[in-house]
Amino acid sequence: MKFVASTAQPAANLAGREPGGLTTFGPDVRVAVVGYGYWGSKHMRVLSSMPGVQVTIVDEDPERIAEARRSYPQAESALHLGEVLGRVDAVVVATPPAAHAQVALQALRQGRHALVEKPLATTVADAQEMVDAAATNGVHLMAGHTFEYNAAVWKLKEIIDSGELGRVLYIDAARLSLGKYQRDCNVIWDLAPHDISIATFLLGEVPRSTWVWAKRHVGHRHADVAYLRLDFEKAATHAFVHVSWLDPCKERRVTVVGERKMVVYNDMSDNERIRVYDIGVDPTDPDDHGESHAMPVSYRTGDIVSPFIQFNEPLLVQDSHFIDCIRTGAKPNTPGERGLDIVRVLAATDVAEATGRPAFVAGSSAPSAAELVREVAS
Ligand SMILES: NC(=O)c1ccc[n+]([C@@H]2O[C@H](COP(=O)([O-])OP(=O)(O)OC[C@H]3O[C@@H](n4cnc5c(N)ncnc54)[C@H](O)[C@@H]3O)[C@@H](O)[C@H]2O)c1
Repeated sequence: MKFVASTAQPAANLAGREPGGLTTFGPDVRVAVVGYGYWGSKHMRVLSSMPGVQVTIVDEDPERIAEARRSYPQAESALHLGEVLGRVDAVVVATPPAAHAQVALQALRQGRHALVEKPLATTVADAQEMVDAAATNGVHLMAGHTFEYNAAVWKLKEIIDSGELGRVLYIDAARLSLGKYQRDCNVIWDLAPHDISIATFLLGEVPRSTWVWAKRHVGHRHADVAYLRLDFEKAATHAFVHVSWLDPCKERRVTVVGERKMVVYNDMSDNERIRVYDIGVDPTDPDDHGESHAMPVSYRTGDIVSPFIQFNEPLLVQDSHFIDCIRTGAKPNTPGERGLDIVRVLAATDVAEATGRPAFVAGSSAPSAAELVREVAS
């Protein structure tokens, strides 16, 4: 038996949940990474760097297995999960989204823990079945919401929760690049899970409704550019999300505009991921000055501060947390239910895109009759 000290910091530190995962001890954990593509190879890198973790690689493509064997000659590998499932404790599902449910359910029903990449599944029914299977079999289902294990996102939440920004007027997010066109989903299901997970984490609630503009510019399959509006009821605010596979500039940014201050999280910056702008705009009443041509607002400007952030690779933090949860029995900070919430929002974006109207997120509080009338009339 080996004893390890994990480097993981819990994503929920700032969400007020029980800190954990800093010094957990336990026996070897055997994990199969299913899907050794772009992202699965990164899981393989971080998991194989952890003491007390044995990693097996599964990919249905023999060429990917050959590549994996060159990089990890000691690791067991297989073309099908069934060949190795009896010898592992857990799986990390990093296949394309359409295969998430089938692979994860195979593992969960055999009593194996599962960490599933975003989006948890491609339908609400599949995501619900996965959550139920984990509960029935007494194992963990964790959603791979990497940004909820990102120290910059925790800092952003800390700043919002401290009240420094004042009331959040709106959030604006951009995730743009000349991106990898996916075969089995549109740009919303591919990229927006990150921004929906960030916005829901920051505001502590799931949006009640969404509105979408999406368009396919290239190819015949899926929309490659989209704009989303997420409506948050308790916070009385909106998040606007722009996602694109068709943009010359790589951008990964979240801006939170508050009544008092504004903050920008730029994931492309190495050393200034968070910048707090002490700027704002206040309304003025022109009649107060007796000048009808006066500006309707006045501007405040002050310092721009970039707080220090102790940054660890989010994927390492996330996967360490998964291993810790297996060892300690603690519930993951992003359990399957969180993944299901995000899939519900994504499913609502499909309805909004198809109808051209705002769509309510299933599972949120029922719309009032007046809201439904307004929606039909819009
Ligand atoms: N959290 C993040 O920041 C992040 C970043 C990128 C991708 N992802 C997610 O990771 C997942 C994988 O994305 P990718 O870009 O690596 O895809 P990819 O196409 O590069 O790799 C997928 C691999 O899965 C294999 N595969 C497919 N079905 C399989 C099955 N049933 N059994 C075994 N192997 C199978 C394929 O052969 C391929 O090698 C997606 O869900 C994606 O959304 C997450």
